[in-house]
Amino acid sequence: MASSESLKLHQSSAAGVAHTIRSTSARMEFVDLRAQQARIRERLDAAIARVLDHGAYIMGPEVVELEGRLARFSGALHCVSCGSGTEALLIALMALGVGPGDAVFCPAFTFTATPEVVMLIGGTPVLADVIPETFNLDPASLQEAIMEARKRGLVPKAVMPVDLFGLPADYIEIERIAAEHGLAIICDAAQSYGATYRGRKVGAIGRVTATSFFPAKPLGCYGDGGAIFTDDDTLAHAMRSIRQHGKGDDKYDIVRLGINGRMDTIQAAILNEKLAIYPEEIAARQAIARRYSERLSKILRTPTVPEGSTSVWAQYTVRLPATRRDAIATTMMTAGIPTAVYYPKPLHHQMPYSLSPVPATGLANSERLAEEVLSLPMHAYLTAADQDRVCDNLARALEG
Ligand SMILES: Cc1ncc(COP(=O)(O)O)c(C=O)c1O
Repeated sequence: MASSESLKLHQSSAAGVAHTIRSTSARMEFVDLRAQQARIRERLDAAIARVLDHGAYIMGPEVVELEGRLARFSGALHCVSCGSGTEALLIALMALGVGPGDAVFCPAFTFTATPEVVMLIGGTPVLADVIPETFNLDPASLQEAIMEARKRGLVPKAVMPVDLFGLPADYIEIERIAAEHGLAIICDAAQSYGATYRGRKVGAIGRVTATSFFPAKPLGCYGDGGAIFTDDDTLAHAMRSIRQHGKGDDKYDIVRLGINGRMDTIQAAILNEKLAIYPEEIAARQAIARRYSERLSKILRTPTVPEGSTSVWAQYTVRLPATRRDAIATTMMTAGIPTAVYYPKPLHHQMPYSLSPVPATGLANSERLAEEVLSLPMHAYLTAADQDRVCDNLARALEG
């Protein structure tokens, strides 16, 4: 199917090194979009047909409906839908007025989209290390990164914590540091929409939150899509304007620099149907993650969820001995079990960020994780039998 083919392309070319194969006997999907589609296919067909009938392909009624539903779901006052998670981050940074001379702090262990948008608008991404147990931004390293930025004459402007693999970052500490240094918090929640942190839902944390509806995300559409959340009326107004070429009251009255950042009506129609079953899917993902941890925590390092947080498990990522990780992935692949490495390089080893400022204390955890991580098949429709197959093969590969 086209969607899973392009998904594999993304895994292998854009977001990491995916070890996916089609086994001739028992084929397992890394993310099974077909099972979900079969469940709601009639509703999806009807929703798409309604868009074809009314013909409002851009900013149609489904977009307005989706924004209302997403805002209510996350407890944020405003939701601004947009064309992708990358655009969501870009629009947020533009609305906050980030530009040349400004430092924006990002974890070194994340997808390129996080620092990419900072550079696109002329700002400087300053990389900080992560905590190995949660894969998320380390507040102590953030402090060091702020010192480094000041030393270089940059103005600390914002921090972009990433809720990696679906788990919210350590926001209590990050909020304390952000308040001390006057930083805006832009949550990169591309992987964590639907997760919670100490009673707060993702979307209602930070000054602004950006999420992605890329097909393989926990809540995904059938193309690119994203959304931005905030409680700040002025910021929401600016982000709506930037999303549509900086429009003022009239479409052809341009009051600021903007982009074409709109979400297609068809994608909104699809997301409205998927959102209806999303709470059940989150519960299923959490049950699957618990089962993985029960089976695997005795033989390898399984992911940690701190007290007071919930994850939506965008990935279930284990840590393996660095010297054996790739061989184990190959053994799994041979057994017809797809795995993926998110991410094979920390960002300071990627070309665009090779000169980005880093803390004097270094980025050792990000470097080590890039060599140790392996993500296992994870989606709401993973059967117990398939999960057993993953665990049995992983145990055997580790012994071998
Ligand atoms: C952490 C993170 N930020 C941003 C993005 C960008 O989202 P999109 O692919 O929708 O542009 C992604 C997508 O993989 C992501 O994982």
